[in-house]
Order: sequence, then C-alpha cells, then structure tokens
Amino acid sequence: MFGARCVRLVLRRCSSAPCPKHAATAKLLRVREALEIRDPSGQDIKVQGWVRSVRSQKDVLFVHMNDGSSLENLQVVADPELGPSELTFGSSVEVQGKLIKSPHKRQNVELAAENIRVVGPCDVLAFPLKYKTHHPLDYLRQFPHVRCRTNSLGALLRLRSEATAAIHSFFKDNGYLHVHTPIITSNDCEGAGEIFQVESANEKRVPGENPHFFDVPAFLTVSGQLHLEVMAGAFSKVYTFGPTFRADDSQSRRHLAEFYMVEAELSFAESLQDIMQAMEDLFKKVTDTVLSSCPRDVELFHKHVAPGQEAKVERMLKNRFITMSYTEAIEVLKRAHQEFVYKPEWGRDLQTEHERYLVQHCGEIPVFVFNYPYDLKPFYMRDNEDGPQHTVSAVDLLVPAVGELCGGSLREDRPDFLQSRLQRLGLEDTYQWYIDLRRFGSTPHGGFGMGFERYLRCILGVENIKDVIPFPRFSHSCVL
Ligand code: 4AD
Ligand code: MG
Repeated sequence: MFGARCVRLVLRRCSSAPCPKHAATAKLLRVREALEIRDPSGQDIKVQGWVRSVRSQKDVLFVHMNDGSSLENLQVVADPELGPSELTFGSSVEVQGKLIKSPHKRQNVELAAENIRVVGPCDVLAFPLKYKTHHPLDYLRQFPHVRCRTNSLGALLRLRSEATAAIHSFFKDNGYLHVHTPIITSNDCEGAGEIFQVESANEKRVPGENPHFFDVPAFLTVSGQLHLEVMAGAFSKVYTFGPTFRADDSQSRRHLAEFYMVEAELSFAESLQDIMQAMEDLFKKVTDTVLSSCPRDVELFHKHVAPGQEAKVERMLKNRFITMSYTEAIEVLKRAHQEFVYKPEWGRDLQTEHERYLVQHCGEIPVFVFNYPYDLKPFYMRDNEDGPQHTVSAVDLLVPAVGELCGGSLREDRPDFLQSRLQRLGLEDTYQWYIDLRRFGSTPHGGFGMGFERYLRCILGVENIKDVIPFPRFSHSCVL
C-alpha cells in the first residue's frame, strides 16, 4: 500500500501550476481506453466524464469518474487543494494529469490529477440518483432523463449498442443487403388493425377536400416485411432493422407501442427449415458476440439482476433448437398437469402461458412451433393445403421466460391462391401490386421478424420490457 505522505508528495509534484503547453499536449482518452493501458508510463492525458464518488482524506482526494465507455470507473487521485468546491457526485468534470500504475489490486491504472475542472455542477439534493445507493429498476423507470447514468442502464445501453452492431455484422457476413423500409406507410402488413394512424396536427381542413394529410390513410409501420419482399425480388437476401409500432396492449410487460424489429427476407427459400436455420444462426451468433465483447456488462445482469441467467443462456447456445408442429404443441398442452387461464384448443392462438409451458416442456431450450391454423394467420402466409386441419407455413420461435421471440413464414407465392384469399378479405385492390409481384419472376420465399427488446430480455433476464428501452414512454412522472 502506498502511504498518504508518499501520495501527497507525488501529487504535490504533479499538481504544481499546470503549464498551458503541458495541458495542450495531454491526449484526450475515454475512461475505457485509459483502463485498458497495461503499462502506463506517466503519460499526460485528459479525461472527461461524470463524478461517481468523491472521497477527501487529509492528504489525498479520491474521485471516481465514468464517461459511459465502460462499467468500471477511472480512479483519480489528487491533492485535496485541487478539488473545487463544486466537485460533487453527479457533476461533469475534465481532469488532466498523469496516468500511472495503481498500487491497488482492483485497478491497474489511476490518474494522478494536475488539474480538475468542474464543467457542470450538480444539484445533489435534487438529483434523483443518490451516492452509494442501489436504485431498483422500477425506481429508475420514473427518471428516464437521468437513468442512463446508473450502472445497470449504462450496461444495458452499451449492450444494446453492441447487439445492434452484431446484428448488422451477422447479415453483412451472410450476404444480406440492408434496406431502410418506410416508417410511414399505407399498409397494415399484419392485418390485425393494431395500427397508429398518421395525420397532421394542423386540423384546419377545407370542407370537401381530402380529410387526410396524405392522399390515403397512412400509418406507422407494424412491419417492413412487404417492402422487404419487393427488395428480395431483386437482391435475394435482404434485411431491415428499425422502429416498429403497434397499437396493441402496449402497457404490458411484453408489449411495447414502439419497439425495434429485425426482419429478414430470403428469396429461393423452399422450406420453413431455411427460415428456422436463419433465426437460430442469428440468435446464436449475435449472443456469442455480445457475451464475448461485453463480459462485464453482461455479468452485471447475470449476477445482480437475474441470477442463474448465465446457465440458461449457455443452455440455449449449446443445444440445437427444438421443432414441434402447432398440432403437437396443442397435444402437449392438453396433456399438461398445469391449469391454464386460457384452455388450449386446436384453432386458438397460443397464449404466453402456453408458450412458456412449451419451452419448459422442452427443457428450457428454444422451440420452433410451425404450421399454424390458416385462420389465425395473416393473408401472406403460404397455404399448406392440408385440410381438414388447415394450416399455413408459419413458424414462431419460443424462448424461455419471454415466449414468442420471432415470427416468420413462407410467403404465398402462387398468384391464384393469394388473389382468392385477398378477395375474401376484400383487399384485392389494395394489394394488387403485391399480387403482381408473383407474376414478374417470382420465387418461393420467406422470412421472419425478431423483436429486439424481447431478444435483450431473453439474454439478460430482465423482467420488464420497459427496462430494456432507452426511454420508457408515458410513465406517470415523465413524458419524453
Ligand atoms: O410476429 P410478428 O407480428 O411478425 C411480423 O410482424 C412479421 N411481418 C415479421 C416478418 O416475417 N418479417 O412480430 C415479430 C416479432 C415478434 O415475434 C415479437 O418478438 C416482436 O416482433 N413484437 C413485439 N415486441 C415488443 N412489443 C410488441 N408490441 C411487439 N409485437 C411484436
Ligand atoms: Mg407473431
């Protein structure tokens, strides 16, 4: 251990009035970059960030600072005289000094400060985050404007960013083209009516004129699939990853009004097996990448938020995902000793309680349920022509705790089948362009969508879906 007298001597030597030339040559580093330096040689550096703790002893001042680049803080040691009075928990600071080897076991380096400048003071009494306090996620949900400064949300947002990058890499490495599908669209791809309509807030309408802002009613996208199908007809393998909106029961623990969806579309896909393989590969590759590139952030969740989650994730990665037809799934549910709120019956949708039971039944390994009843699914799914239990080539991927993570299908590529289904739904005119696609060099094709927030919940074990989004909307205390 190094004695306080010795620290004081080092610091006094370092903290003699900072010469401008010295400060100007100091290299600006992120906290993460500074912490990664194995053999510091007393190089002159500058770090900018926020104060996580300040501890003043007689001879030495310890400051921990964090700039969001890593879970770990950088320890700053300084002569107490260097610390301005506004240097408090939560303030933003710029520190310049020498990066030196730390004598403490828990950190490799520390910054011997020569200059500490408070950039923005913090009103500590009003600040919703408190020093040395563990803030549960349901408390933090009330403060979306500051919660990104905590360890848990910081880790989550870094993981979100890393997973996003890993998703793009996966598709790039596998020959997919990235497409920006529209956010405002006139189609309700899923046909479930769970759509937000888009109108101008300016309500001055001239009587007799079109009452809509656009020529036709327009909505926030519920899925980019139909646009991806257009693109798959030219580029073979395409994907999109963007904001998606559903006006469903968005206040629940599983449903969001605004979420991110990854969607892929593959031309020349002849069987559901191709779609399932793409889903499994995406899940495993992205998870592997996230676990290996952000081990400390993942550890925070696996140790403190959802103990036991690490083993569950390992299990999902190690095992081949299981496949089971919808008809088999209903039989398993009917044989179950568990009492369900919704009685399982062929022809009815699977509820979350059923999905969770099926995953449990499969040993907590993700399970693909395929061939769903024709009447349950949207118009675009391929008819299996397998009466009397009439099904379509649809597949959902069910995962532990979350239930449905991905939904996909083979698309109906036979123009006559598509036309008669759309006719029955009264949608033939609306989707004429879609029927046309089947006449101009069509291919068998299919694809899927994966909810990004549900994916994060699945690998991190977070209970409430609102804890994996940067800004929970419309919470009682704050509307951002
Ligand atoms: O199963 P869904 O509705 O499938 C589609 O939209 C297809 N058109 C996708 C495609 O084939 N290109 O949605 C896909 C996934 C779901 O499995 C779920 O993970 C997620 O999107 N999802 C939601 N996530 C959060 N909040 C909501 N309200 C969600 N609705 C769907
Ligand atoms: Mg679905």
